[in-house]
Amino acid sequence: MITREYINDLKAKNNGELNSFINEQKDNSSIQFILENLGRLPLDFDGHCLIPFLMNKHDNIRYLTVKNIGKLCNDKYLELILKVAKEDQSSFVRREAISTIGRMKSEKAIPFLIEMLKGTDPKVVLQVIRALLVFKSNSIVQEELKKLANHSNEMIQYVIQKQFYTKKSIKYLDKNPVINSEFMKNVVVYGDVLETLKYVPDESINLTFTSPPYYNARDYSIYPSYKEYILFLAAVFKEIYRVTKEGRFFILNTSPVIIPRVSRQHSSKRYPIPFDIHYYLIKMGWEFIDDIIWVKPEASVKNRIAGFSQHRKPLAYKPNQVTEYVMVYRKKTDKLLDWNIRQYDWEIIKKSKVQGEYETTNVWRIDPTFDKVHSAVFPIELCSRIVKFYSYVGDLVFDPFAGSGTLGRAALNLERYFFLTEKEEKYIEKIKHEINKETLFINKKIYFLDILKFKKLMEGNPHDFNG
Ligand SMILES: C[S@@+](CC[C@H](N)C(=O)[O-])C[C@H]1O[C@@H](n2cnc3c(N)ncnc32)[C@H](O)[C@@H]1O
Repeated sequence: MITREYINDLKAKNNGELNSFINEQKDNSSIQFILENLGRLPLDFDGHCLIPFLMNKHDNIRYLTVKNIGKLCNDKYLELILKVAKEDQSSFVRREAISTIGRMKSEKAIPFLIEMLKGTDPKVVLQVIRALLVFKSNSIVQEELKKLANHSNEMIQYVIQKQFYTKKSIKYLDKNPVINSEFMKNVVVYGDVLETLKYVPDESINLTFTSPPYYNARDYSIYPSYKEYILFLAAVFKEIYRVTKEGRFFILNTSPVIIPRVSRQHSSKRYPIPFDIHYYLIKMGWEFIDDIIWVKPEASVKNRIAGFSQHRKPLAYKPNQVTEYVMVYRKKTDKLLDWNIRQYDWEIIKKSKVQGEYETTNVWRIDPTFDKVHSAVFPIELCSRIVKFYSYVGDLVFDPFAGSGTLGRAALNLERYFFLTEKEEKYIEKIKHEINKETLFINKKIYFLDILKFKKLMEGNPHDFNG
């Protein structure tokens, strides 16, 4: 039986032995095993023994053959692989052939690669682009690639825009990511969020996590129409986009709401808030990153299935709603996450590392919290996970619809700062009560301001207020 060790032994001996061993193979499963286990090939390896396998009837064998020839990065196989790239019946093999041609870095392949840019498979075109970018300084290549700036495929468009049209940022790395938000640290503003946000500087927030008012489902959230409600949320989230630092996160907790029927002659109406608002978020520049599903125990939610349990009639099935969405968005940037992380000192990175056990899936099972004063509070566990996973120690985290201020408590506990806005006085009192409990044992000053005081503060009169 052929083993990996045996193949390695042959590789370590002279080239001819591996060659003649490969030549001897007739049975497809042995050929496949060898091709899968060849690993790194000796530099002087003569790839000609692999060529017959390019005619094999099994796609996977032809694919592995091309891949192994690719490891040799030698343009003496260019003609052969060009033929595969043009003629092989499997798109999977053709794609690998393009990648192999790219690895050869041969100028002779340029005309062929340019021709391949006209292909309809975006994955192939992206591979061709990668291969051509090696010759980026060649004016013909550059011209051809630039033609794809408005390609119908968004990934192709993105790669070309980034390569040729994005100005290199000369912005210095902001070593202190909360510097321009100094006056917003541990501040709670009593007032309307849109009014308050007018005084918040651009790029001053590291993370926003919020659960907006549910459309007409609670006393604090009455809107003339669903359209106006969605447009109000969109206006708030657009402002949040402005005040969020480049590449940082906005996390939105919502779920569809039901407006109960007016009478037995009518049916209730269900509004898919997360799906409707998503369109606006993407349009204003938020990039969709993840959907986390928050699952609650069935016993904790309203029972909608009772009727169906009795009559069992199809169409009238109404499952109990045990989930809410926690949608994760990132402010648009051409920088990788690493760029954001590099802005912190090593000490902060070390201090912020997520310790111990943590949820590895996007399904978060968390019990809801019920409160006598506020009817829709976040469980502290939900806020703590968000703060831990999406911010660093010392960051400023924002909840525009603060309610009882649960996010603020999580931020304090995890050595972050909070900035909260809430329009109902009774909830401001609740925040005071909850946060006071939290700060009893830590020496942290919390500022409760109305909009006027906040405006003064942000206009540069920090000494004028007594928080
Ligand atoms: C779903 S609750 C948030 C509860 C919060 N997550 C908590 O843990 O307590 C939404 C909150 O937004 C507030 N709100 C609604 N419209 C607002 C506005 N225009 N400006 C500021 N707050 C607003 C409501 O008073 C309500 O407390």
